[in-house]
Amino acid sequence: MTSEDLQTAAELLYQAQRVAVLTGAGVSEESGIPTFRDAVDGLWAKYDPMHLATPQAFQRDPKLVWDWYEYRRTLMRPAQPNNGHIALAQIEQHAPEFRLITQNIDELHERARSRKIVHLHGKIAENKCFANCQGTPTLIDREALDLLGTPPHCPHCGGYVRPNVVWFGETLPQDALAQAVDFCQTCDVMLVVGTSGVVQPAASLSTVAKRAGAKVIEINPDITAFSPWADVKLLHPSGIILPKIVSLMQQLERTSQP
Ligand code: OAD
Repeated sequence: MTSEDLQTAAELLYQAQRVAVLTGAGVSEESGIPTFRDAVDGLWAKYDPMHLATPQAFQRDPKLVWDWYEYRRTLMRPAQPNNGHIALAQIEQHAPEFRLITQNIDELHERARSRKIVHLHGKIAENKCFANCQGTPTLIDREALDLLGTPPHCPHCGGYVRPNVVWFGETLPQDALAQAVDFCQTCDVMLVVGTSGVVQPAASLSTVAKRAGAKVIEINPDITAFSPWADVKLLHPSGIILPKIVSLMQQLERTSQP
């Protein structure tokens, strides 16, 4: 990455009318939350997340899957937004039109005061009836749950309760996906931060934006499936590079003042 790349990214984001951001687990890594494909240490190391985050795994062993999400909740609860989350909220303040489309199930973007957030894969802090007995999704407040038995039971139908997250093999919330695709089709700039780009349909959003004529900026220490589409590739942690971009945007603001 060169300083010209950083300056180009700042100018693109400063001048853009419609900014789409796609984030993945990497944006929360500097908040102490392991990325999805990081080796999970300790008790859960022997379990492959790809085999636990499925409806079949839950039906086979509801207690194991519920306990795994409770473990991930304990990891996420104390986590604080990092400088990358905060910088994204500042970019939102600058952009006339903005959507933060996230694959993450933590709520660190909300806690960093981002507002226009689209959760493609749900939120780990929320629970719903496994059968969605009152409609999709049948959300259930944690206070209404009897957590003595795990997993708890739905107060409406008595069936199991599960985290309100998208599991492998499940479809994404259609309204969230439609909102994300619609916005990516009309954005000027798409900023892709901290995602490996291996999970569809989120991974195809950058090509949607690119085909619509947007400039694509990628922030990730590694090369990813998005990298060939990137007009600007910043090979650095997002918690370090995003504040630098915001600082350059603020300089542009100052020099543009009469
Ligand atoms: P991954 O774990 O696949 O990828 C995380 C990406 O973040 C990798 O490309 C890392 O190089 C990068 N990364 C690590 N530290 C970073 C940092 N400090 N700053 C910026 N980038 C960093 O996680 P996701 O791409 O989010 O879906 O995974 C996408 C989806 O796969 C998840 O939402 C989940 C999983 O299946 C569901 O649960 C439905």
